[in-house]
Amino acid sequence: MSAQQMLKVFVTRRIPQEGMKILQKAGMCNLSVWDSDEPVPRAELLKGVAGAHGLLCLLSDKIDAEVLDAAGPNLKVISTLSVGFDHLAIDEIKKRGIRVGYTPDVLTDATAELTVALLLATARRLPEGVEEVKNGGWSTWKPLWLCGYGLSGSTVGVIGLGRIGLAIARRLKPFGVKRLLYTGRQPKPQAQEVDGEYVPLDTLVRESDFVVVSCSLTPDTQGLCNNNFFSKMKKTSIFINTSRGAVVNQEDLFKALSSGQIAAAGLDVTTPEPLPTNHPLLTLKNCVVLPHIGSATYSTRGIMSELTANNLLTGLTGSEMPSELKL
Ligand code: NDP
Ligand code: DGY
Repeated sequence: MSAQQMLKVFVTRRIPQEGMKILQKAGMCNLSVWDSDEPVPRAELLKGVAGAHGLLCLLSDKIDAEVLDAAGPNLKVISTLSVGFDHLAIDEIKKRGIRVGYTPDVLTDATAELTVALLLATARRLPEGVEEVKNGGWSTWKPLWLCGYGLSGSTVGVIGLGRIGLAIARRLKPFGVKRLLYTGRQPKPQAQEVDGEYVPLDTLVRESDFVVVSCSLTPDTQGLCNNNFFSKMKKTSIFINTSRGAVVNQEDLFKALSSGQIAAAGLDVTTPEPLPTNHPLLTLKNCVVLPHIGSATYSTRGIMSELTANNLLTGLTGSEMPSELKL
């Protein structure tokens, strides 16, 4: 390809080298990379995207009308290094005929595994225990000390039995879970595999010992877990969220946790991200917060990077994308 024919691509972050190699080897892109582990400042994003044919972005980049205007009419494809796409203004993107690539399936196992780890860490109070060992709080073996809640014989409720929700359910069942409830927009045939019972949200919240949120963030799920929601949970229940922070009203969660309305919460996602270090949730022993690491295994991130690059290239050439979001 001649220099004039090269397609301009803006990459908003340093990404795993697997994807970069694919983009470089293709020899069809004039690559401009925000070569940092930190997010691209908004002004740099608006500048970097100008005239681009392709945009490779992350979930921390808000791609709205302003960015699309700054890109201009060349922009043919947006490829996000994520399965979640709540950071993309889909209506605006669709209106402009831009194609979108994303990374479903390849991160399902890693995210489900992390969700199970977070659930167990929260329910069995692992961070508290580790802290007590370090600070000298471990005086002897005590029958009533650091007791938590186990999965055996329990009822687990999954909000959003999608790819990740089902993978979580599959992993939790062998721990001796007695009932697996789920809710969503419609019953799922694949729920049979985990003996899943489709129930209204209200039933799930009232009856579950563990409530696991794995739905996508949409206008319907934004703020879904609020005061009303937590007030229906059992006082002994554990709340886990690995979807998006905005599904939870964090002030209401703080009240539920600090008043003993629910037993504990484990969050891999928050609003904002990062959660400020002086945030009230971080003062609570019964709240375990992780820095959005659901998909963070080396191999998963490498494969996500490859898929994101391949989505971008195929989108640019107008061919079938390995994972195109149906708009
Ligand atoms: P899927 O699209 O397969 O699943 C999303 C699920 O959300 C579907 O089952 C859908 O149900 C459900 N849902 C949508 N609206 C509602 C609603 N109003 N009430 C209840 N459920 C609803 O996506 P994935 O499983 O692949 O990913 C899910 C989300 O997980 C992503 O969107 C992302 O936000 C988050 N994620 C977080 C990660 C992390 O690092 N913590 C890693 C990867 C993903 P239905 O089918 O009935 O519409
Ligand atoms: C996603 O892909 O949506 C996650 O939040 C990060 O992997």
